[in-house]
Amino acid sequence: MTTPARPRRPDDLLLPDDLVLRDGDDLLLRRHRRSDLAGIVAQCVDPATVRFTVVPTPYGPDEAEEFLTACERTWEEGTAASFAVVVDGGFAGTVDLRLDGTGWAEVGFGLGPWARGRGTAARAVRTVLRWAFADLGLAGVHWRADVENWGSRRTAWRCGFRVEGRVRGLLVQRGTRRDGWIGSVLRGEPLAPAEPWEGPER
Ligand SMILES: CC(C)(COP(=O)(O)OP(=O)(O)OC[C@H]1O[C@@H](n2cnc3c(N)ncnc32)[C@H](O)[C@@H]1OP(=O)(O)O)[C@@H](O)C(=O)NCCC(=O)NCCS
Repeated sequence: MTTPARPRRPDDLLLPDDLVLRDGDDLLLRRHRRSDLAGIVAQCVDPATVRFTVVPTPYGPDEAEEFLTACERTWEEGTAASFAVVVDGGFAGTVDLRLDGTGWAEVGFGLGPWARGRGTAARAVRTVLRWAFADLGLAGVHWRADVENWGSRRTAWRCGFRVEGRVRGLLVQRGTRRDGWIGSVLRGEPLAPAEPWEGPER
């Protein structure tokens, strides 16, 4: 995982130091810790993660260290809120919100393969969205994904994102342009499907 950096702007939001978000008894989101390092490496060498995200490849402990440092820095700058997803006490993945300083953000998410297939990403994204709309006062959040990434699209759909376009060359992945979907959800909208499912059923 990589978190883009940019200089702090005056309208950036201050993020609380010790933030923990919960959904039920089993799922919590908190800032990343050094003890997540092995889980981050395991997640970032997974083929689906390599295929659909911008993680460096090859990925090892040095890259995970850089990711942890970037998460720390961008949290303190108020430019990105990057959460470790923790299920039953174990590291499961990451949800991040890249805050653009105008009251909007873009969401990113990914789970390690061991944590998939139970709807965890949708629960984690919904939890972060609830916090972002209620506590940060964001007006809206964008989602973008590779046009082959139906798992991401279904997760976004479950969280209330409306897919508003398929855009040629929307995404840059390791120097290559790829076609992408883009969608949004606004503050006040239900964090539940807003339109019929248009993709394949599994
Ligand atoms: C996207 C991701 C976070 C979803 O994780 P998850 O919470 O375990 O999601 P699930 O496996 O439960 O899949 C979510 C839904 O998509 C469906 N789905 C998954 N892959 C699908 C596919 N290829 N075609 C159709 N539906 C698919 C699942 O059946 C599930 O449907 P449900 O909500 O009706 O149960 C996970 O697959 C991942 O980490 N992928 C690699 C990283 C990535 O792509 N991140 C997003 C970048 S934009």
